[in-house]
Amino acid sequence: MAFINWEPKYSVNIELIDKQHKTLVDNINQLHDAMKQGKSKEVLGGIIDKLINYTKNHFTTEESFFQRFDYKEKASHTLEHDRFAQKVVEFKKSFDSGNAIISTEVLNFLSNWVKNHILDKDKKYSEFLNSKGIK
Ligand SMILES: [Fe+2]
Repeated sequence: MAFINWEPKYSVNIELIDKQHKTLVDNINQLHDAMKQGKSKEVLGGIIDKLINYTKNHFTTEESFFQRFDYKEKASHTLEHDRFAQKVVEFKKSFDSGNAIISTEVLNFLSNWVKNHILDKDKKYSEFLNSKGIK
């Protein structure tokens, strides 16, 4: 069983974004599995970098929709993205400076953030973007 399981309740009813969210979940699962299997620091670092880059790419997708349709919650939503991105970069810095253990705390933080963010913030734009023809 995967660390995080994708469930239909996470869908925002926008194909591209659901696909990106599934990839994010997949990246976190990969990190969890690699940690459990005792993979090298290089392997773990590579997965974290992939997660950071993919997250940036995904946030850019969402934020460009917010800009394009002048979504009313764009500021607070973007702020939540920025805070998360900053936390993950800080976590990578501490990893690079010798702390090669990816704690349960970090894994739980990543997984809870993604699940809660989708269920709360992302779900809120679903209907709005659908009404603009984004599906
Ligand atoms: Fe988001």
